[in-house]
Amino acid sequence: MALQLGDIAPDFTQDSTEGPIHFHDWAAGSWVVLFSHPKDFTPVCTTELGAVAKLKPEFDKRGVKVIGLSVDPTDSHDSWAKDIAETQGAALNFPLLADHDRSVASLYGMIHPNASDTLTVRSVFVIDPNRKVRLSLTYPASTGRNFDELLRVIDSLQLTDRFKVATPANWKHGEDVIIVPAVDNEAAKALFPQGWTEVKPYLRTVKLPA
Ligand code: BEZ
Repeated sequence: MALQLGDIAPDFTQDSTEGPIHFHDWAAGSWVVLFSHPKDFTPVCTTELGAVAKLKPEFDKRGVKVIGLSVDPTDSHDSWAKDIAETQGAALNFPLLADHDRSVASLYGMIHPNASDTLTVRSVFVIDPNRKVRLSLTYPASTGRNFDELLRVIDSLQLTDRFKVATPANWKHGEDVIIVPAVDNEAAKALFPQGWTEVKPYLRTVKLPA
């Protein structure tokens, strides 16, 4: 069965551009973004890996480790990394798994046989420090992902964990957030002593907690 939100992200050991990775040990209580791309030396993938390398300081700021994957071997990754550095204005600064036996791709359902029976699709998993899958998404090979959106989701997830708030549609950092329904008004008084706006009893907004 496909991995679902709340599931424990499966452990694995696989080769990478930074040597063998024992996933749970490598994650070591951090947030993780694990993402697959279809193939080395392809145009969209080249731009994606450059985009993630440029955003690395933003992932670091949020305590997030990033790791990529395709079914290409490490020598291919190493050689492609030179093209990424040359063309994207940023060199690879995170590990790329070389999933040559497709063991990780199978474990995480990254091969969708009716799209391609050999290549991984563009999967993303956000995994929390308790190893739980908190987001999964799948993009087609022809569409590069929006990694700023991924940062936005991570901000939202981390706010939920810290402050018991949710984020509305199209929320941007700094805008008001929503008190989660599981927090009743009595509990909300302790959590948000500055008060909140009750648009409806089930829709209560507050300033972003500091
Ligand atoms: C790309 O990265 O450009 C790509 C990879 C596989 C299929 C289509 C596009």
